[in-house]
Amino acid sequence: MMEKTEKYRLLTEQIRSLIEGETDTVAIMANVCAAIHETMGFFWTGFYRVVGGELVLGPFQGPVACMHIGFGRGVCGTAWKQRQTIVVPDVEEFPGHIACSSLSRSEIVVPLFSKDGEVTAVLDIDSKELATFDDTDCQYLETICSMI
Ligand code: SME
Repeated sequence: MMEKTEKYRLLTEQIRSLIEGETDTVAIMANVCAAIHETMGFFWTGFYRVVGGELVLGPFQGPVACMHIGFGRGVCGTAWKQRQTIVVPDVEEFPGHIACSSLSRSEIVVPLFSKDGEVTAVLDIDSKELATFDDTDCQYLETICSMI
C-alpha cells in the first residue's frame, strides 16, 4: 500500500493542476473534496463556507451533514474562531462536538483564509477510526487549502 505521505504528495500535485485557471470557488471546492475523498478514502470530506456570520454547508463527499454551524460551535466553528487547524483524535472527548453521524470517530478541520486574512471557509474531514489524523495530514491539507 502506498504510504500516506506519497498519496498526499500525488494528491497535492493533482489538485494543483485540477484547479489551475479555475476561478469559481464552488467548482474548485467540489473537485478538491472529491479528489481528497477518493484518494484518501475518508468517511466524510467537505467544506463549510462563512456566509452571513455562520458556517453553511458547501461541496462535500459522504453522507448528508448538518447545514448550519455557528461561530465557535463544534469543531468547525472552533477552528473558525481560533483561526487554526484542529485535530480531534476522539470526537467524544471534544466538548460541543456536533455529531452529524454517529459513525464519525475522529476529525480534522482546516480553515481557509482570504487575502486579507479573514476565514472564508473550513475544510472538515471525518474518519470512522479513532486518531486518524496527524502532522502529515495537517501539513498537506493546509497546503491544499492555501491553494484554493
Ligand atoms: N463534526 C463537525 C460537524 C460537521 S460534520 O462532522 C460533517 C463539528 O463538530 O464541527
